[in-house]
Amino acid sequence: MNKKRSLTGDRPTGKLHIGHYFGSLQNRVKMQEDENLERFVMIADVQALTDNFNEPQKVRNNVYEVLKDYLAVGIDPNKTTIFLQSMIPEIAELTVFYSNLVTIARLQRNPTVKTEIAQKKELFGESVTYGFLGYPISQAADITAFGGELIPVGEDQEPVIEQCREIVRKFNSIYGDVLKEPEAVFSKEKRIKGLDGNDKMGKSLGNAIYLSDTDEEITKKVMGALTDPGRIKKDDPGNPNICMVAYYHNLFSKGEVKEICEECKAGKRGCVACKKQLIENIIKELNPIREKRKYYEERPEELKRILMEGTKKAQAEARKTMEKVKKAMKLDY
Ligand code: TRP
Repeated sequence: MNKKRSLTGDRPTGKLHIGHYFGSLQNRVKMQEDENLERFVMIADVQALTDNFNEPQKVRNNVYEVLKDYLAVGIDPNKTTIFLQSMIPEIAELTVFYSNLVTIARLQRNPTVKTEIAQKKELFGESVTYGFLGYPISQAADITAFGGELIPVGEDQEPVIEQCREIVRKFNSIYGDVLKEPEAVFSKEKRIKGLDGNDKMGKSLGNAIYLSDTDEEITKKVMGALTDPGRIKKDDPGNPNICMVAYYHNLFSKGEVKEICEECKAGKRGCVACKKQLIENIIKELNPIREKRKYYEERPEELKRILMEGTKKAQAEARKTMEKVKKAMKLDY
């Protein structure tokens, strides 16, 4: 019986935050219960270089940070193959083959690429690199090298998966039916906003809570979160709809959130007490994750072993795909 494969990954450009946690991480952990699935998770260090080519040490450092975050949230190396992209040369090879099947205009129209280029003006200036523009092609290589069919990602990645589907169809129509068409799997939660209300959460914005944050860091960040600006005095009625503390209570205080919002609207709950309750609940949720992370922080050899064993398995799979691809493309010398 052929099991379906899921494949996903992250660019190691920083530690993972609660946006990742509610976005795709919980989904990936849940998918581990599915017996009919083979799971692959890639630490996409080569893709990270497409927008961090000038900071190789940062990418290198964050490979292990992301790995620790994965293990801490419960991605289990016995159930999920965790591997390193740069050690799979077939991905680079496939990227070259697929680049003939994609036009420059199509890449420039890709909404994900467009948005990201606009966000990275500082790095790219007026003209984007060939590598970054082409990242949907290399991501199609990531996916198809492992026959990935289910791709758990954030909604912002949907156009990249769609472009992968196009590449697969084009490849199959020219060279024969070799590649599988993937499908994106989204989590229930939409993209999580930052503590300042910004749609995007990130280090440079200082508005994210990381899975590895200390009690002090969490406290400081939540105390600075955006609340209803119209609320001056403690007993002014508040509007939870424009309060980031209420927004985060929705994520971390499931059983309590209704009462919290009622009290706020009635002017019966001060923002400071409300923030303190949120801090407590975030710490409660993150504590087991941070403890597991600490276990791995103290065991670098174990981390290395996990990553190399996963990579070895992944290499064998990519080789099998390459054999089929080269045969189909008449490159099987
Ligand atoms: N581009 C993805 C992101 O930024 C990360 C990624 C790299 C990925 N390779 C992938 C996701 C393959 C899914 C499948 O989130």
